[in-house]
Amino acid sequence: MTMRLRQIFYFFLLGMFVGLSLSGLIYWVITSIWFGLTITSWYELDTPKLEADGLLQHKTTQGRVVRNHLTGNLGRTDVASVTQWLAPIVWEGTFDSTVIDSIYKQQNITVATTVFALGKYTRFLKDFLESAEEHYFVGFRVHYYLFTDQPEEVPNVKLGQERYLTVKKLPSMNRWQDISMSRMGILEKLIKDELASEADYIFCLDVDTKFHGRWSVESLGRLVGVIHPWFFDAPRFIFTYERRPESQAYIPAEEGDYYFTGAAFGGSLEDVHHLTKTCREQMNIDIANSIEAIWHEESHLNKYFLHNKPSKLLSPEYLWRDISMSSGYVKIIRFSHVAKNNAEVRPNL
Ligand code: UDP
Ligand code: GAL
Ligand code: MN
Repeated sequence: MTMRLRQIFYFFLLGMFVGLSLSGLIYWVITSIWFGLTITSWYELDTPKLEADGLLQHKTTQGRVVRNHLTGNLGRTDVASVTQWLAPIVWEGTFDSTVIDSIYKQQNITVATTVFALGKYTRFLKDFLESAEEHYFVGFRVHYYLFTDQPEEVPNVKLGQERYLTVKKLPSMNRWQDISMSRMGILEKLIKDELASEADYIFCLDVDTKFHGRWSVESLGRLVGVIHPWFFDAPRFIFTYERRPESQAYIPAEEGDYYFTGAAFGGSLEDVHHLTKTCREQMNIDIANSIEAIWHEESHLNKYFLHNKPSKLLSPEYLWRDISMSSGYVKIIRFSHVAKNNAEVRPNL
């Protein structure tokens, strides 16, 4: 072969190589986009395999980026978004509100929502109801059941379409602890006697609270607990479970998954009926044994959730401490306690 011919041949080979590489690259880019895999997701999905076990586990419990052709960037890497028993933990960034709204829109659901305002706690009702109308299950049927000793103090809040309010009168009690605990038995009775054909889901909420952001159908589940805002990033030994074995709420040091708030919980009528009934019964046994759990019904609720795992957990976005306190993990405050002077509003200390 002449020098010239050889040059042409090598040039041809080089051309073939570059051409094939380019078409391979184009094919890879197109399929990657098609499957929603970007160069970074490929990197994130594959690198943990190369890492030490400890780090991989850590990454897994922290929640991995979940990507497929539809979810794109949905998911959080900085917080756990699933429990060890595979219940989702709802955080901003873990769900698509448009998709989830459209699913529940077809179901014609009613969400019963209970709230108690006895004694001076009626002062919290206006903000609670007005903010709920603005943020809570907007566009869905909500029926508030409001328990109070002073129906005349219930503010006249304009409710949206398909939003209902039933006021129920209760006698007052002398101890705030009794008011707080008695809610379990009253809810048990309400669900059994009145809600069966009236609602599909129920949420039971504290009244010294306010909504600041969306709380909607993403929160629905069979049994739903809200992680207490003071303990979501705390180790188990810090959890303020009842530690005296004499109480029915007792949880041994080596048990317990999360510390849940008593200020918000919910689920299906059947599951919440079982929860409220069990807590009421356990509290009655404690009364008979002259013991009161450290955080009252909240302690019994935590005991209940230990043996009846919630099917969905809501992050502290769904009950923050006070709107003025910030946290890196909590990107949206949806519902929070309001600052209150306990000595001033409670009937006893
Ligand atoms: N509550 C009430 N009147 C009272 C004390 C308590 O209506 O005098 C109700 C109210 O719904 C309140 C709930 O019981 O949100 C729990 O009590 P509190 O909010 O004081 O407990 P905390 O959240 O401060 O532990
Ligand atoms: C407090 C809260 C109490 C109880 C306690 C548990 O912040 O006001 O209701 O939940 O935490 O340690
Ligand atoms: Mn409260």
